Amino acid sequence: MRKQLPDFPWDALAPYAEIARKHPEGAIDLSVGTPVDSTPEFIQDALASNSNSPRYPLTAGTPELRSAISHWAKSKLGATGDFDVLPLIGSKELVAWLPTFLQSKKVIFPEVAYPTYLVGAILAESESLAVGIDAGDWPKADLAWINSPSNPTGRVHSGPEYKSAINWARKSGSVLISDECYFEFADTTEPTSILKYTDGDNTNILAVHSLSKRSSMAGYRAAFLIGDPLLIAEIREVRKHAGMMVALPVQHAMIAALGDDKHVEQQRARYNARRAALKPALIRAGFRIDESAAGLYIWCTRNESAWESVKWLSEIGIIATPGIFYGEKGSSHIRIAMTATDQEIQSAAKRIESALQK
Ligand SMILES: Cc1ncc(COP(=O)(O)O)c(C=O)c1O
Repeated sequence: MRKQLPDFPWDALAPYAEIARKHPEGAIDLSVGTPVDSTPEFIQDALASNSNSPRYPLTAGTPELRSAISHWAKSKLGATGDFDVLPLIGSKELVAWLPTFLQSKKVIFPEVAYPTYLVGAILAESESLAVGIDAGDWPKADLAWINSPSNPTGRVHSGPEYKSAINWARKSGSVLISDECYFEFADTTEPTSILKYTDGDNTNILAVHSLSKRSSMAGYRAAFLIGDPLLIAEIREVRKHAGMMVALPVQHAMIAALGDDKHVEQQRARYNARRAALKPALIRAGFRIDESAAGLYIWCTRNESAWESVKWLSEIGIIATPGIFYGEKGSSHIRIAMTATDQEIQSAAKRIESALQK
């Protein structure tokens, strides 16, 4: 299987990280989207105070966690009709294994996208195809991924775009899954969930959410699936055999996290302030900011090869990700993550400004 999988793309970035590290004040790493702000203390407390956990946890999750997810899905996402929920050890696990669980023969995903959609298709030995946003143009497939807000672009799906994807799924009897793991991080556009547009008929529709970014819990591995009860029952049955249960102390931490919005508002404000601090410097350096309406990233281009932009930034000690990691269509863009401290973002902006004065 290793031979079928692509080379790990981050290895290609290593020489530029090396250049950036030579900067006298050290490198500022804006490449990997890994949260740096602490997990809120009340979530840490919920984990710690439930650390006595001798029994195996349930694959389906505790009734309390299931109820917290259902409540959140109704109140935050606008979910209606019959739906079920399932806790996950991170959404990457689901992205990588869903085509295997469902034995999907053909998988489609966005043409500029999180690379694990392709990995999941390869693991399942399915045919795969990258497609545009407009579901009117999608071919027949067993499984389609959409992602809003998008990694890497920060693009947000509109209601009509969701509806068109739902129509495609209904017409073709295919599974449609919306990866909404950056849902809470609105900047200039407010994201909505696919579950708001199903008119209570969630047949073949799933949404996946994660607490990794929402609650700075990436190290906990905590995510969940919401949607079609029959599909979720099928996935739960496979998982009962395959493992991947969410640790019980983590389930308690998830309940605490889902019960609070204040820390999410604070985190959203942090990411948006960082984007606002960095954007003007990038624009002065000749970058055009595209999309970037929500989520964790700035998606920008100088109409040159992404590697040229990555090189220019590495020479002033900043590590960014070339858009080509996310598909051919990203080959002249770079992705800059807001997952660095406020101080690092300020320093990055200053480094760009001073490079322009030389
Ligand atoms: C679009 C998208 N989906 C899923 C994930 C996986 O997140 P996690 O496994 O931490 O829930 C990521 C992580 O960066 C992502 O960008």
